Amino acid sequence: MIDQEKKFGLILSKLRKTYGFDFSQYRMGTIRRRLARRMAFTGADSYRDYLDILEERPQEYGHLLNNLTIKVSRFFRNQYVFERLQKEILPDLFRQKKEGAKHVLRIWCAGCAFGEEVYSVAITLVEYLKKKKKIGNYDITIFGTDIDEETLEKARLGIYDEDAVREVKKGILDEYFHVKGDHYQVVDSIKSLVSFTIHDLTSERYICPPAGVIANYDLILCRNTLIYFSVPLQEKVFSNLSRSLNRGGYLILGRSESIPKDLENFFDLKNRKKRIFQKKWNQNDSSFLTS
Ligand SMILES: C[S@@+](CC[C@H](N)C(=O)[O-])C[C@H]1O[C@@H](n2cnc3c(N)ncnc32)[C@H](O)[C@@H]1O
Repeated sequence: MIDQEKKFGLILSKLRKTYGFDFSQYRMGTIRRRLARRMAFTGADSYRDYLDILEERPQEYGHLLNNLTIKVSRFFRNQYVFERLQKEILPDLFRQKKEGAKHVLRIWCAGCAFGEEVYSVAITLVEYLKKKKKIGNYDITIFGTDIDEETLEKARLGIYDEDAVREVKKGILDEYFHVKGDHYQVVDSIKSLVSFTIHDLTSERYICPPAGVIANYDLILCRNTLIYFSVPLQEKVFSNLSRSLNRGGYLILGRSESIPKDLENFFDLKNRKKRIFQKKWNQNDSSFLTS
């Protein structure tokens, strides 16, 4: 048993040393279940066998990384969030821009899987700007980041099966997707608003996407990703997300995720059920610094 535990630790430490990805502070139940699934797929009966496979076929590391992270997503997942985005959050952010005479809008979807959420945000934004006849007036950046490069490659292609688009309204589907056989591809005008880049939320190296250069996000979505981290890791990641957000900026979490107690006071709760928060205007960012 002790030997088995050591081998389990060794697999995680090899993954960390080879890829620099540290899963030691994820929820261990999930990690064990997903590792067992991958082991069964490869025919390994024990951690020892699986270590041998990793040794013989280094490409297995990539498959393991892919299996340890959960990629479930879809377009306009939790529709209500996108309604709030269009009706409340975007109008407020653009009001703020007007007052500050700034024309830059920066959005970050952290833990973006295959890009469904990022493109949904971009479509919602374009729809909003079209209604307000403001298109072309703003310098817009939408980053999608994930720990897994293979996933991001698919996100950049923007091709999805029917299941991924099942919640997309007919008019939106017709306007923003090309039908390719039994698949749907996001149109180039939406793709051009979005860039995908690898970023590990738990890494000490960066607090926000390196390609982002500066943090200063107006809106951050980090949905259904924190839930896989242990509570101390959630707190650390949350602190980084908070620092990357402009004052008055919005943060949207997944339905089962919440702000750590210590940081609750730094945000106004806009919608408890839908996990929408706004960073307070008088927030001093040094309060978020972690040790
Ligand atoms: C369940 S998906 C969430 C997708 C989307 N945000 C949504 O709610 O539909 C979780 C994503 O988080 C990514 N992820 C897991 N650990 C991560 C980390 N340390 N840094 C960045 N992304 C991570 C996974 O690869 C996966 O694509």
